[in-house]
Amino acid sequence: MPLFYQQDINETTRLGVWKIEEGEDFFLRSVPLKQDITHPHKRLQHLAGRYLLRFLFPDFPNEEIEIADTRKPFLPYEQYHFSISHCGNYAAALVSSTARVGIDIENVTPRVERIQHKFLHPEELLFVHTHQPDHLIPLLTLLWSTKEAMFKWWGRGDVDFSEVLRINPFQFSNEGIMPAIFTKEEIQIPLTIHYQMPEGLSLAWVVGEG
Ligand SMILES: CC(C)(COP(=O)(O)OP(=O)(O)OC[C@H]1O[C@@H](n2cnc3c(N)ncnc32)[C@H](O)[C@@H]1OP(=O)(O)O)[C@@H](O)C(=O)NCCC(=O)NCCS
Repeated sequence: MPLFYQQDINETTRLGVWKIEEGEDFFLRSVPLKQDITHPHKRLQHLAGRYLLRFLFPDFPNEEIEIADTRKPFLPYEQYHFSISHCGNYAAALVSSTARVGIDIENVTPRVERIQHKFLHPEELLFVHTHQPDHLIPLLTLLWSTKEAMFKWWGRGDVDFSEVLRINPFQFSNEGIMPAIFTKEEIQIPLTIHYQMPEGLSLAWVVGEG
């Protein structure tokens, strides 16, 4: 059973990362496939994400999941807030009965270098290029996955990544926390991002207020 990582964040919030080594049949035994996903690997990733929800909370009502106009999946009665991400052979999920959440997992690759000016504010670019320049690609990847996690936590779309999702300087290492702020019109919400970078992956998550 390739559970790659699991953390009980607190009494009401749990995180899991699954390394996908099973075929579809394994997941379909306990997960309903409600969406038409033609690409086989994307379908497998999707199923693994849904599987993790119930793995983390056995009473998670998978069959009740609906998809918002923004494409965010949600439970209409909000018994749980949840967020899902996948990359390659990994799926990650964060589930909470009390707080809004966001999670993102990415492979560390140089692809982020090309888009760094799109998703980072000039102050963040300055931080990235002066702080540990030897680790530019992992740091850029982490900031990208952090902003994707913040985007999912917000869940309402319509977000300018470089202006609305802001990350303050922090000491970058293999795991840790970073201070961030969501700032949109009159809304200003400070957030603490947690991250881990195991085996060429970047995993970032945020647990908001209830
Ligand atoms: C939605 C988005 C965050 C998904 O990220 P991704 O890296 O492509 O894919 P991930 O595997 O990490 O996440 C996919 C999961 O996110 C969830 N998701 C999709 N849309 C979502 C949304 N609007 N809010 C929250 N979660 C969402 C779903 O659970 C989905 O998996 P599933 O369909 O199997 O259930 C991304 O596609 C996106 O739209 N980003 C914002 C685009 C943008 O404005 N970029 C500006 C950059 S400068």
